[in-house]
Amino acid sequence: MKAVVLHGSPRRGGNSDTLAEHFIRGLETAGKIQTWDFYANEMSIRPCQGCEHCQTSVDNSCAIKDDMQQIYSVFGDADIVVFTTPMYWGYMTAQLKTVVDRMEALAMNPEKYFVDKHFVIILTYRHHYQSTVAFFERIKIFFRFRLSVLTFCSLDEASQRDVHVTSCPEKLEEAYRLGITLAMP
Ligand SMILES: Cc1cc2nc3c(=O)[nH]c(=O)nc-3n(C[C@H](O)[C@H](O)[C@H](O)COP(=O)(O)O)c2cc1C
Repeated sequence: MKAVVLHGSPRRGGNSDTLAEHFIRGLETAGKIQTWDFYANEMSIRPCQGCEHCQTSVDNSCAIKDDMQQIYSVFGDADIVVFTTPMYWGYMTAQLKTVVDRMEALAMNPEKYFVDKHFVIILTYRHHYQSTVAFFERIKIFFRFRLSVLTFCSLDEASQRDVHVTSCPEKLEEAYRLGITLAMP
C-alpha cells in the first residue's frame, strides 16, 4: 500500500500533522506501507497560472517546473491520498489550496489519478469545517474517489484557547482506527 500525505499546516507537529501521523500508524498495521509526506509550507510551489498547458500539451503536463513535480511524480502510485489541514478563514490553508489548484494537471487523467483512490481529509478547526468537506464531497461524484473525513475541534470552550490534539487521546485513537480500517483489504 502506498500513501501520499499532503500537509497543509505551517505548524509542524500541530494538530493536523499529529492526526495524520496517527492515521499512518494505523495504516502500518497492514504491513509494509510506503508513505510520501509533503509539507506544502516548506515547498516552493507557485500558484496555478491558468495557462492551460496541461489541457493542450500532448502529455498533459504542468508548465511550471517547481516542487509540485515531486508530488506529480508519486501521486498516481498512491492508493491513499491524505489532505491534512487546519481551517483558515473558512477553508483549507492557502498552502494546501495552491497544491490542489496545481492538481488541475492530474485532472486531465482522472482514471490514473483519482478513480478508486481513497482520499482522506483531516480537518482541524475552531468553529467550522463543513465548507472544505463540501468541496471534496462535490468533486467525489465526478472523480469517483472514495472519501473519509476526520475532524478535530481544537477550541476549548472554557478558556477560549486552542488545545493540542495530544490532550485528546480518543481523537488520536480515532485517527489510528481509521488507518486500521483503510488498511483492510
Ligand atoms: C490564520 C488562521 C485562520 C483560522 N481560521 C479559522 C476558521 O476560519 N475556522 C476555524 O474553525 N478555525 C480557524 N482557525 C483555527 C485553526 O484551524 C485551528 O487552530 C487548528 O486546530 C490549527 O491546526 P494546526 O495545529 O494543524 O495548525 C484559524 C487559525 C489561523 C491561525
